[in-house]
Amino acid sequence: MKNIVLTGFMGTGKTAVSAELARLTGFGRVEIDAEIERTAGMSISRIFERFGEPRFREMETEAIKRFSRERRLIISTGGGAVMKKENVAALREGGVIVCLTASPETILKRTSKNAERPLLQVQDPMGRITELLEKRRPFYEAADIMVDTEGKSPRQVAREILERVPRAEG
Ligand code: S3P
Repeated sequence: MKNIVLTGFMGTGKTAVSAELARLTGFGRVEIDAEIERTAGMSISRIFERFGEPRFREMETEAIKRFSRERRLIISTGGGAVMKKENVAALREGGVIVCLTASPETILKRTSKNAERPLLQVQDPMGRITELLEKRRPFYEAADIMVDTEGKSPRQVAREILERVPRAEG
């Protein structure tokens, strides 16, 4: 069985849903952001601050390629990962790509709980969210499966994903 890859904007619930998916499938679980932090020995915010976004994106691609070679993993990606063709190609080679969606209002509510997202540390986070969502829409929509998370618990979303993911061995 191939990997199940979660993509989607910040605050669409990838982390919580990936934990449920791992529980339900018995697959291993990898968070690309957490792996980057572990390898770099510092937080994502600090990486952005010290080295800038382009260096973060390189580290993201390295981590994605590394874990895409494995199987039977739930891979949760950062919200910007789908913007690079080579990331999507590697992720798809190793698994099925599931994009989670939520409304801008829900995204704002979920992301305002902490300050760990450098891209949203601006005066008008709602403006930034709608602008980025618009720009990224075609990249998110290129997923194999789209799942709306609005008003659903992480467990409900995980079950819905498993109903829709093809069970073919690979
Ligand atoms: C980003 C999303 C973040 C993290 C970084 C950049 C983005 O991950 O990778 O702050 O470009 O959307 P989450 O989607 O897990 O918040």
